Amino acid sequence: MLEKQFAFLLASVSIVLGNGLVHKGFSPQKFTVDLSAGVPRMMDLVRETRLPSSSEFSGLGNSSGIALDVLESLRTQWLENFNWDHEEAALNKYNHFTVEIEGLTIHYIHQRASDKSSIPLLLNHGWPGSFLEFLPIVNNLTEKSKTSKGQPVSFHVVIPSLPGFAFSSQPPANWTTDDTARVFNTLMREVLGYDQFATFGTDWGCAPTYSLYDNFNTSVRAAHLAFLPFSAPSSAADLAALNITLSSPLQQFEEQRSMDWATSGNAYFLEQTTKPNTIGLALLDNPVGQLAWIGEKYISWSDPKAGTSPSVLNHNEILLAVSLYYLTRTFLSSVYIYFQNSDGFKTSYTKAHTDAPLLFSAFKYNVGFWPEPVVAKVGNLVMYNNHDFGGHFPGLDNPPALLHDLREIATYWE
Ligand SMILES: *[C@@H]1O[C@H](CO)[C@@H](O)[C@H](O)[C@H]1NC(C)=O
Ligand SMILES: *[C@@H]1O[C@H](CO)[C@@H](O)[C@H](O)[C@H]1NC(C)=O
Ligand SMILES: *[C@@H]1O[C@H](CO)[C@@H](O)[C@H](O)[C@H]1NC(C)=O
Ligand SMILES: *[C@@H]1O[C@H](CO)[C@@H](O)[C@H](O)[C@H]1NC(C)=O
Ligand SMILES: *[C@@H]1O[C@H](CO)[C@@H](O)[C@H](O)[C@H]1NC(C)=O
Repeated sequence: MLEKQFAFLLASVSIVLGNGLVHKGFSPQKFTVDLSAGVPRMMDLVRETRLPSSSEFSGLGNSSGIALDVLESLRTQWLENFNWDHEEAALNKYNHFTVEIEGLTIHYIHQRASDKSSIPLLLNHGWPGSFLEFLPIVNNLTEKSKTSKGQPVSFHVVIPSLPGFAFSSQPPANWTTDDTARVFNTLMREVLGYDQFATFGTDWGCAPTYSLYDNFNTSVRAAHLAFLPFSAPSSAADLAALNITLSSPLQQFEEQRSMDWATSGNAYFLEQTTKPNTIGLALLDNPVGQLAWIGEKYISWSDPKAGTSPSVLNHNEILLAVSLYYLTRTFLSSVYIYFQNSDGFKTSYTKAHTDAPLLFSAFKYNVGFWPEPVVAKVGNLVMYNNHDFGGHFPGLDNPPALLHDLREIATYWE
């Protein structure tokens, strides 16, 4: 009897994990998030950090970076109303794995749909993001739904952590996002047995996504981006050179955000591209420092209505994001992605070597704006949706819109 149950268990495990769990020599391991040992020290440092009072230093408010009162209130919430164990238990409701590919440990979440014919979908996060930014839509993506044209759709979802982020190991110094693309192609095809898949990327995640789309055109049969690995036109002269006139107030607003990023929002980008070791070492063991550096990005890159429906990007989410960076000790390795890919956002647009469809979602408060004709230059653009709610972290900042647009992939999937 016991033997029978055991055999049944084994059978169901191989169905659930199926699709090549032990495939072509790779052996993925189940993984459990267990970072609680680091929490007492983190909370001690959060408590002991001495911030100035507003009389000691009044600052210039948030035009000069994160406002002191915002940082204080986040810190207070961390101390009084944040429960890592509760968060960790929620994270462990997903199926986490690690697997070694090309000598790197790659961490990923893998949630399969019940329907075997569902579309395999690889979701790529950026900086200062992580796998966390897609959790609000993972289960929904695996469920049966319909596209706007009424076609059935569901996904087998794979969310890897970029090398150097969360539980994926730090890559060698010469690593680029093209290398990440190759490793993720191996993950999808060889480890998980998905010969053809779709992929979405935002922020730095757009770089491996685009590289997969461009260089692995037999396996990547649809790509979807919310950011491009090509520089956004960020001046009136850029737009004029491209013969682009922005007709709607939404587009004009988004273009202004792009210009603001380029003139007063990119100091972190230059620091992380040129001197990652300095900022990385300064903040590696400094949770309140990471909160200031990372929290400012979450707040200023999202919709001012963040945290109100449909956005789930509240302050608890920011504290969770920063806790993950601190507890995994990956702040230093994460900022190296800028240094290693200093030409990551190319200035001339080239078309990907593929006939596969490209979808694009723009969000009002994102920090880069690529008008439709620009996106059409780099791939076979079939869908361009512009949303007037949300920003740089759409999985948190406007989950229904991202979910809707991802489901549109099925319209173009063959
Ligand atoms: C990158 O660095 C690794 C490890 O240091 C080395 O084995 C590899 O040959 C290097 N690759 C290139 C393309 O230089
Ligand atoms: C812009 O439009 C002008 C006039 O129609 C044309 O000569 C030029 O080639 C266009 N430039 C681009 C980049 O499309
Ligand atoms: C910055 O401060 C202004 C004025 O207090 C406020 O309206 C705005 O929401 C703040 N922005 C951020 C990103 O905190
Ligand atoms: C894939 O890329 C190769 C190399 O650029 C190209 O020759 C081929 O036509 C592409 N295939 C598809 C289906 O686009
Ligand atoms: C995802 O599914 C849950 C449960 O059905 C639902 O409550 C939630 O609104 C859905 N999320 C989105 C973004 O549609």
